[in-house]
Amino acid sequence: MTFKRFISALLVVACGLVASASNDAKMDKFIDNLMSKMTLQEKIGQLNLPVTGDIVTGTSVSGDVVGRIEKGQVGGLFNLKGVSNIRALQEIAVKRSRLGIPLIFGMDVIHGYETVFPIPFALSMTWDMEAIRNSARIAAVEATADGICWTFSPMVDICREPRWGRMSEGSGEDPYLGSEICRAMIEGYQGKNLADPTTMMSCVKHFALYGAPEAGRDYNTVDMSHLRMFNEYFPPYKAGADAGAGSYMTSFNTIDYIPATGNRWLLTEVLRDKWGFDGFVVTDYTAISEMINHGMGDLQTVSALALNAGTDMDMVAEGFLGTLEQSLSEGKVTVATIDQACRRILEAKYKLGLFDDPYRYLDTKRAKKEIYTDAHRAEARRIATETFVLLKNDNNVLPLKREGKIALVGPLANTRANMPGTWSVAAASDRYSTLLEAMQRATAGKAEVMYAKGCNVCYDEELEKNATMFGREMRDPRDATVMRDEAVRLAQQCDVIVAAMGEPSEMSGESSSRSQLTILDAQKDLLEALKKTGKPIVLLNFSGRATVMNWEVENLSTILNVWFGGSEAADAICDVVFGDVAPSGKLTATMPRNEGQIPLYYNHLNTGRPNPKWFTKFTTNYLDVPNDPLFPFGYGLSYTTFSYSPITLSGNSMTSYGSLTASVTVTNTGNCAGAEVVQLYIRDMVGSIARPVQELKDFARINLQPGESQTVTFNITPDKLKFYNTQLDFVLEPGDFEVMIGGDSQHVQRLPFTVK
Ligand code: BGC
Repeated sequence: MTFKRFISALLVVACGLVASASNDAKMDKFIDNLMSKMTLQEKIGQLNLPVTGDIVTGTSVSGDVVGRIEKGQVGGLFNLKGVSNIRALQEIAVKRSRLGIPLIFGMDVIHGYETVFPIPFALSMTWDMEAIRNSARIAAVEATADGICWTFSPMVDICREPRWGRMSEGSGEDPYLGSEICRAMIEGYQGKNLADPTTMMSCVKHFALYGAPEAGRDYNTVDMSHLRMFNEYFPPYKAGADAGAGSYMTSFNTIDYIPATGNRWLLTEVLRDKWGFDGFVVTDYTAISEMINHGMGDLQTVSALALNAGTDMDMVAEGFLGTLEQSLSEGKVTVATIDQACRRILEAKYKLGLFDDPYRYLDTKRAKKEIYTDAHRAEARRIATETFVLLKNDNNVLPLKREGKIALVGPLANTRANMPGTWSVAAASDRYSTLLEAMQRATAGKAEVMYAKGCNVCYDEELEKNATMFGREMRDPRDATVMRDEAVRLAQQCDVIVAAMGEPSEMSGESSSRSQLTILDAQKDLLEALKKTGKPIVLLNFSGRATVMNWEVENLSTILNVWFGGSEAADAICDVVFGDVAPSGKLTATMPRNEGQIPLYYNHLNTGRPNPKWFTKFTTNYLDVPNDPLFPFGYGLSYTTFSYSPITLSGNSMTSYGSLTASVTVTNTGNCAGAEVVQLYIRDMVGSIARPVQELKDFARINLQPGESQTVTFNITPDKLKFYNTQLDFVLEPGDFEVMIGGDSQHVQRLPFTVK
């Protein structure tokens, strides 16, 4: 950098600091002034977040919301949809409460609004930060056009536990990728200026470790070492603070035997003191009162515990509202702590511009123009095509030609409501296409798509009912054999079978844990019957988690995991099935061979008796299943193939302040255009603590035409080699390392290097 550029860069930074300091001073003055007029009750009122509207996401609902708003007992509301509904309540706050403090309106805008993007787990399979950022940006545009200024996203819980249904809501098992995605989403939601009426405040959740529940049961106990937290589970949460997230949500689980919502070490020492987070912390749904069940005391005790731990806002439990005054009179909480929580919430409202204009997100013209637009839908469709992971494609059955007769079968082939996926609370499913409709459109005048459902989701009616909640019931009353025979007869007349199967959308998500991850009985029986026809079968596997697919891999020619692709899923699936776009998704969670292997993840430690493969006595393994996964982290095929040149390292050593570059040249060796995700892993060979056998530290998604090559160069910087040691210091320990580059975590080339 020249001297002139250096000076001007300094000036830019300095001006930025001055500007933000003066903004802060202005904000502080405004809030000081406002708080000087507030009664204790009004301050506590700001900490209260009731739920309203028709969208139910927890076990209880709030009462007398209007009365509470009038009395100044509400800080915000969530999951209310529509500008006119929101405006009505905002007017009550502004016109009828004593100080007219505006409410903040939140919602679970998890993967899009009415334009629904693929579920977050699927989005992570794209490894495409630009696409993910843009999906969040579009979600923010639509949600803010409809009155929402705060989203309960991103969900960044690392998950090695596919039995847990909420794997669907996160970015898989990797801390590095999870951190990159967290940052991209916050940038997409919040933009550069929270007061911009098209951006909204994000909420990093669920803090913390919610993705590691014992036995995969939702809300269950979490217990892990601090080293594992800091090195493997915390990075995405920290990335949220680094990216300037406006808020955090506590998780339901215990950490070190104390529920997160009442855990001062977590919420204050780690989040605020270590990571410098200065926004506000909201609980998850009734998490304060749930601490009674955790055995932490009565409502008054747990509410004081939460506040003193660093929780600022109480979602639905009304523990703060009902008990903090009493706790104050008994000396169990201080005015300063209540003031601090209130200030943080008022600051968020200030930054969102709500004090300038409480109606800034309530513009009916925007609501008409900016939601579910053609441009948003086109982007959602494009992004969805990037999420699909081709696991197997013998004899290049895919892509299908648009000719002949195609049998479309399965319980997910003709359902609209199941397309967007779990946690699409603002979805307008009536407007979305079923796969059948999209396939008929995609082949009109060229091929005939014939449909038979073939089976229900499973034989057990009760299980199907629980897995298709929220009006997504779709059970066919016919006898199972009648349905199956119909599908087989149809398949016999066709050239190829496309089976739309797997989990209905509410079989993953909250409160949707499973103990068995194989395809459900009725669907498996149908697949077996279809296989007997001898026709090639393309399995489109819908799921919100890593599933167990041994039988399918052994018996079917082609498997495309399509997860839940959002409002445009059906068209996007057709884009890939008919070859307009080649699949490029890569797994962000290891796929196990059976449930007994769980937790199975690529970045594990070595044992003293490592054994990567099959049984050998006195080594780390099972008698009845190999150690390795069915499909590894990072895996995914395309319609084309890619070759990798040997790795070139810029040197074989670096200092602890220096860096190295590692390059490979990747060539598209097939016949169609495609995208490849080039992955860089590092292994620290010797450390003061045991270090993982490999860790993702960088990646690049590149598009290549047939025959085209591109050189990808990664920087190996000290940050990529650091880890938290037993003192929880983030350190680089000199010594031997190994760099690995490849198209998935198992197929890599390796080179050693040293840090001096
Ligand atoms: C979920 C959160 C969600 C909240 C509000 C809870 O049940 O755990 O992820 O943001 O409800 O809907």
